[in-house]
Amino acid sequence: MKKILKVLGILLLVVVIVIGCAATYVGVALPDIDAPADLKVELTPERVERGRYLANSVCVCMDCHSQRDWNVFAAPIKQGTFGGGGEKFDRTMQFPGEFYSKNLTPFALAGWTDGELYRAITSGVSKDGHPFFPVMPYPNYNKLATEDVHSIIAYLRSLAPLETQPYPASVIDFPVNLIMRTVPEPANPMALPKPGDAGYGAYVANAASCVECHTNQEKGKKIGEPFAGGFAFNFPNGAVLRSPNITPHPADGIGAWDKAAFIKRFRSCVDSSYVPQAIDWAKGDFQTVMPWQMYATMTDEDLGAIYDYIIAQPAVAGKVEKWTPPPGPGS
Ligand code: HEC
Ligand code: HEC
Repeated sequence: MKKILKVLGILLLVVVIVIGCAATYVGVALPDIDAPADLKVELTPERVERGRYLANSVCVCMDCHSQRDWNVFAAPIKQGTFGGGGEKFDRTMQFPGEFYSKNLTPFALAGWTDGELYRAITSGVSKDGHPFFPVMPYPNYNKLATEDVHSIIAYLRSLAPLETQPYPASVIDFPVNLIMRTVPEPANPMALPKPGDAGYGAYVANAASCVECHTNQEKGKKIGEPFAGGFAFNFPNGAVLRSPNITPHPADGIGAWDKAAFIKRFRSCVDSSYVPQAIDWAKGDFQTVMPWQMYATMTDEDLGAIYDYIIAQPAVAGKVEKWTPPPGPGS
């Protein structure tokens, strides 16, 4: 008996040491990312324009890196906050911690080299080497064409500096703080396909991270079929929004939409007749996290290419219940 206990004791000790080493490795040695490249991006007007388009219409950097007015439908950017960061992602929205987007204007980034910015955008690693929480879809930006990342950097350098106070440091719950360290990877740039080429729609859809929200996830892990929806967003008032199925399934997805209808659905958020709707949270009004107004400024060519790409994906059955209103008073 004593012998068995001794053996069990030693085994337990070994297990504890192995787990301890693994946690130390993950905590200290990861992310295993190279030093930032020695890079100097030349600021040409073409780059700034391309970067403006990518950062505002496709990758929608400026959507997260400005403060949004959640009391208006689709949460447009609050005046005077453009590029200044400070948008909070926290546990009330089921994030595993508390994260603030950061100021991307020269006020904050003047001390960053272009190499550090390139690495932050494509690998999700800060100037000091710590990894970001992937609320920022850097695993998608990882595949952006090098020239596109250079354009985004040129655009950020061209922004009007916006002075802000430092935001609280991000707090990440255990064990996500360790898991997160395994996410960053060295940039893996694709060649930029030309509009009309095979692969162009996939490129734009990846840059716009459509599949990230339109795939069901649990605790940051994809558990559903791509584009089949079901990812739940919990609002602080108890309402639940779920991303719809946008696979080409005729009844449950968008298989019955033609390209014109698809493009029109985006444009309807920015055309001249659009009146921003106020959201009454107490009444349980429908609100969305999809940044319609930003995507709506994509070109017809790019929205059309995304449509062609999505409509060529496998159709997946399963209608998603898009909205569960908050529990009423007394329930
Ligand atoms: C869905 C929201 C979201 C999108 C889209 C997004 N970001 Fe971020 N970004 C964040 C958050 C949140 C952080 C802070 C992460 C953390 O602290 O773990 C961050 C951090 C950063 C940082 C680090 C800044 C610092 O001071 O540490 C840079 C640089 C950055 N983002 C640039 C970009 C660029 C460029 C794009 C578009 C190509 C982009 N982001 C798109 C949410 C987003
Ligand atoms: C931040 C998460 C998020 C991102 C990113 C996102 N969506 Fe959505 N999308 C949603 C949610 C949630 C809804 C349902 C609420 C609504 O209609 O606004 C939705 C609705 C839609 C609808 C309407 C479907 C229907 O049945 O009415 C389409 C089409 C769509 N998204 C396509 C896209 C495309 C294309 C992209 C990439 C360019 C994209 N989405 C990116 C969250 C997202």
